[in-house]
Amino acid sequence: MPAAWKLDSWRSKPIVQVPDYPDQAALEEVTASLRNFPPLVFVKEVQDLKQRLAGVVGGSGFLLQGGDCAESFREHKTDYIRDYFQLFLQMALILTFAGNTQVVKVGRVAGQFAKPRSSPTEKQGGKELPSYRGDIVNGPEFTAEARVPDPRRQLQAYRQSAATLNFLRALLDGGYASLDNAHRWELKFMEGTPVEARYDALADEIKRTVEVNRLLGMTAENTLALRTTSFYTSHEALLLSYEQALTRKDEAMGSGQYVATSAHMLWIGDRTRQPDGAHVEFCRGIINPIGLKCGPSLEPDELLRLIDILNPDDEPGRLTLIGRFGATKIEKHLPKLIRAVKKAGRTVVWECDPMHGNTITAATGYKTRPFDSVVSEVEQFFAVHRAEGTYPGGVHVEMTGQNVTECTGGATKISEADLARQYDTGCDPRLNAGQSLELAFRIAEHLKHHNGAGADVPKAAAE
Ligand code: PEP
Ligand code: CO
Repeated sequence: MPAAWKLDSWRSKPIVQVPDYPDQAALEEVTASLRNFPPLVFVKEVQDLKQRLAGVVGGSGFLLQGGDCAESFREHKTDYIRDYFQLFLQMALILTFAGNTQVVKVGRVAGQFAKPRSSPTEKQGGKELPSYRGDIVNGPEFTAEARVPDPRRQLQAYRQSAATLNFLRALLDGGYASLDNAHRWELKFMEGTPVEARYDALADEIKRTVEVNRLLGMTAENTLALRTTSFYTSHEALLLSYEQALTRKDEAMGSGQYVATSAHMLWIGDRTRQPDGAHVEFCRGIINPIGLKCGPSLEPDELLRLIDILNPDDEPGRLTLIGRFGATKIEKHLPKLIRAVKKAGRTVVWECDPMHGNTITAATGYKTRPFDSVVSEVEQFFAVHRAEGTYPGGVHVEMTGQNVTECTGGATKISEADLARQYDTGCDPRLNAGQSLELAFRIAEHLKHHNGAGADVPKAAAE
C-alpha cells in the first residue's frame, strides 16, 4: 500500500531532469501567482477525453497525438498555430476517411515547453554550458546568461499556453474544423507529389459527403456535431513545481479529486519514469489521462509495477503506453511488454511514438530522423499488434505545419545536405507538413485493413 498522495508528496522523492533555480525567492513568487491563475482546461473536458480513450482501448477509435517537440516563445505566431492546427486536422481527416475510424485528437501544444536532456551540459567549439531545457526553463541561445534557469519564464509559458488554447478554441467554435470547411484547407508544400494527388482525391470524397449531408438536411448550421470537433491538449509532466501550481481540487464536478489544469493529458517521459521517483508520484494522484513513454530499457516487471502505481483500479482510458523503441528495436521489445500486460489483465491504450527511438546525427552534424525509419516503426507496431491480437491504438508524432527540413526522406526527398536549408527546431527534428500527411496515409492503410471493408463510407462524419 503506497503512502497517501498529497499535492506535494513528489517533493520527498528522488527527482531528475529538473532545473536548479538560483533565485528561489523569484520561484516562490511565480508559483504563488500560478496558483491563483485560472485553469487552462476543465475537469469535464479531462473526463471526456478519458472516456474517449476508453473507447480506443476497445478498438472504437484511434488516438492521434502530435505537435512540436518543444514549443517556443519565438514561434508564438498566429500563422504558425493555424498551420499546425490545419495540418493536424488534415491528418485526422485522412485517418477518419481513409482509415475508417473515429480519431481522438490530442495536440502536443499549448504547454509543451519543458524538455528533458540526455546531458546536463552542452559543448560548442570548446565552450561548455548548461543544456537548454525548453523555453519555460532557460533560453536556447548559447550564452551563460541565457542558460540560467529563470522561474519568470513559467509566467510567459502559462500566458502563451492560454493564448494558444484560446485561439484553438475560437477556431473550433467558429467552425474552422468543420467538415464543411475541410475542403478549403489548402495543401501546402506538396505540389506535384503523390501526396497531393491522394489528398485531392480525399478532398473530393469529403466534398461529396458534405453534399450528401446537405441533401439529408444536415448542415453545419443545424448540426453541432458537424460544426465542431473535439481537440485536447497534452505535454510532458516534467516541470513539477509548475504542474503542482496549476493542479486544483475539483469542486465543480464535486469529485474532490485533483486535476492538473495545465493540459487535458500529461505524459511521463522515458527519462523520468522511475517507479519511486517524483514524476510518477505526482502523476499517480491526478485524475487526468496519463501517458507513459516506454523505451527499450523498460522491462515487463517494471512496466507492471508502474501500471499498478498509475492505474491501480484499472480504469480504461487512464493510461496510454507510448512505445518509443526505434525501428530496429521495436520487434524485440514491444511483444514482451504486450504479453506481460495481457497476462496481468491490465487495460491500456497502446500508442506508437516513432520519433524518439529513431534519432541519428547526420554527417553534417544535424540531429535528424529518417522518414523511412519512422514509417518502419509504425508498420512494425501494427504488425506486432496483429500478431499479438491486441489493438494498435494510436500514434504520437513530432510535427510542424511549416516546410522545415529536419527529417530526411519522404516524398520531397530531403537529403542530409538539405537539412541546413530550414532547420528551425530548438530541440528534436520534426516531420514537416508533407511528411506528416504522407505518414497519415500510410497509417490509414493499416487502419483500413484493421477496421475492415467499407472504408469508402465514412463512419463518423464529424469526428
Ligand atoms: C519527447 O516526447 O519530446 C521526449 C523527450 O520523449 P522521450 O521521453 O520518449 O524521450
Ligand atoms: Co522530442
